[in-house]
Amino acid sequence: MRHPELGADLAAEERRRAEHDFDPVRPGETFTSAHEEFRELRARCPVARSQTYDGFWAALGYHEVLEVITDIEHYTTTKQNAVPKFAFTGVRPPLHLDPPEHTAYRRVINRAFTPPRMRALEPRVRAAAVELLDPLIDARWVDVCKQYAHRFPAHVFAEFFNLDVPTAQLIKDVTGTYVDAIQVLDHEVVKSLSKKLYEIAQSIIDDRRGGRYDPEEDLTAALLAAEMDGEKLPADMVLGCVRQLIVTGMVAPSVFIGNMFVHLSKDPELQDRLRAEPGLIPAAVEELLRLYSPYRGMARTARTDVMLGDQLIRKDDPIALVYTSANRDERVFPDGDTFVLGRPNVHRHISFGRGTHSCPGAPLARMMMRVTLEEALQRSASFRLAGEPEMAIWAEWGTRSVPLDFVRA
Ligand code: HEM
Repeated sequence: MRHPELGADLAAEERRRAEHDFDPVRPGETFTSAHEEFRELRARCPVARSQTYDGFWAALGYHEVLEVITDIEHYTTTKQNAVPKFAFTGVRPPLHLDPPEHTAYRRVINRAFTPPRMRALEPRVRAAAVELLDPLIDARWVDVCKQYAHRFPAHVFAEFFNLDVPTAQLIKDVTGTYVDAIQVLDHEVVKSLSKKLYEIAQSIIDDRRGGRYDPEEDLTAALLAAEMDGEKLPADMVLGCVRQLIVTGMVAPSVFIGNMFVHLSKDPELQDRLRAEPGLIPAAVEELLRLYSPYRGMARTARTDVMLGDQLIRKDDPIALVYTSANRDERVFPDGDTFVLGRPNVHRHISFGRGTHSCPGAPLARMMMRVTLEEALQRSASFRLAGEPEMAIWAEWGTRSVPLDFVRA
């Protein structure tokens, strides 16, 4: 029998749904193994099927991911926006909303990441980078993930969100354990840590009552002051939004920083070139973002039966957006596994997503990565790997431990 509107062969589709192309949590991942697997899968099935986590589709090709994230008529974030689906602990704008509800939150959030706001923040971001990096370069044998990448985002967050560092570090620690619990589907721990993160978000909000912070300079105060259709944004949604921001902003930078250090450790010539010409660092960061995109488990849910390429996706099916794979798709990025400084179409990468839910924090993320490399390269004569990197597991892709040997400049 054929699908009444889409013309798909339903018996073939049933067989396809029962297949299992890949296991997202296979142990023993190395720095290169996931990309090798994704390359093989992209060639065979750019929309792959996995039976893990109750069954999901995975968009692995660039065009397939782009199609899902830009088609808000057929795909929603309101039902399941990550694989695995974890315990529901509340609606958190902006990621959990579709337009038009989504728009009011993004309008406020976007204003916190304008070029002038980023320029004003940069000296404090740089000071945090230097404070953390300098002792590491002297210590020589370090774990750049555990001693820098897991701490720097909390310091930046403290500056960006006008928090004290202990609060930001508490958020970072709770977030780390929360992300681990999601990976092993420990719903009880996820719920209790989520509750803890809500409490922290509430305390940040309470601290803003009474007009102590200028909405022009403080994102939480701006959310409290914002209006939609002449009404203040609902209190529970503002709480959800602050809770969303404090987690989303910490996870990706933590895994991505280690990826940059692994790449540069393996390419001493590139290190030296960037030391000699720091003006090339932004281009290097952009290509590293393409090559080592840290998200592979963000997701959408189909609103209706819909064709994605030649694959029938059923209403309510979750689809993981494997950005990690899409950005190496040879159809868009020739020689996609290779680092090419100044790659002509690097700006087409979708490491920060695209469309409605594209990352509002991208300007801050880019600045954090640039400043990290500028300071690490300038203060060191060289650095190299001092052991095997350890990898985070799905839904992020990237490092969680990178032993390095630094030589001071
Ligand atoms: C290397 C660093 C980062 C990467 C690669 C990254 C990547 C992404 C991606 C791919 C999305 C889209 C998710 C989707 O399509 O479902 C996203 C959304 C988001 N990111 Fe980032 N991000 C980074 C850093 C940050 C930072 C520093 C912040 C905030 C301070 C942030 C805040 C957000 C928020 C709030 C959303 C949801 C936007 C919406 O739903 O409208 N991110 N990010």
